[in-house]
Amino acid sequence: MRQIIIGNWKMNGSRALVDEMAREVYARAASLPCDLVLCPPATLIAPLAQALPGIAIGGQDCHERVSGAHTGDIAAGMLREAGASHVILGHSERRADHGESDAKVRAKVGAARAAGLTPIVCVGEDEAARQAGRADAVVLGQLAASLPEDFTAGVVGLVAYEPIWAIGSGRIPSEADIAAMHGAIRAALRARFGAAGGAIAILYGGSVKPANAAAVLALPEVGGALVGGASLVPGDFLAIAGAAMAPALGRTPVAG
Ligand code: PGA
Repeated sequence: MRQIIIGNWKMNGSRALVDEMAREVYARAASLPCDLVLCPPATLIAPLAQALPGIAIGGQDCHERVSGAHTGDIAAGMLREAGASHVILGHSERRADHGESDAKVRAKVGAARAAGLTPIVCVGEDEAARQAGRADAVVLGQLAASLPEDFTAGVVGLVAYEPIWAIGSGRIPSEADIAAMHGAIRAALRARFGAAGGAIAILYGGSVKPANAAAVLALPEVGGALVGGASLVPGDFLAIAGAAMAPALGRTPVAG
């Protein structure tokens, strides 16, 4: 399986950044050892899809309903129509800023799948849970309650492990801790979905930078990275993508 590097622009970006990505990332994308997904704010999905044809584009959230009286929200089908193929769901910033529960995330995953979007479901513990030795319990609890039963039927979704305390902080768990959590998530996915659970890519997110990308991406059960801040800088994003493991060469980094 090729690794997947996802850029989460959050509430950042502009037409100028779309043009910059088209100039600097697009030309290099075909030679990268991984697949890319760019998740800009919803208003930039269509321009980005147009400027980078063939590169997967994702939304950052969707409503659980198809349409209706939900001012300010966006439906999965609208993201799809704008040119998205993926959508990030249950990001910790959505869970914190908008009070999104696991049940809400699960409903959104269903809506995304119904619209033909690949959901990228985020889970992750806060610092207090990590220090109390409860990281596994929190993450596996979120995972169990955020994924619907049909998560592996048809379009197989992705899971992103993002420790909240590592997001935007420049801090990152030890390699052993990342490997242990990814192993625990893999075991839970296999236990629930059988062999299909072995095919779900598990991405790591939280302060992934050019300096640590190769080490993170070489860890067992790390299927790629969800990148926030560094995805806004074309050179940094390319360096991270270039550090992905090329499947044909085994787990050997390819120079970016
Ligand atoms: P960061 O964000 O790379 O800026 O830490 C990651 C994320 O929140 O997806």
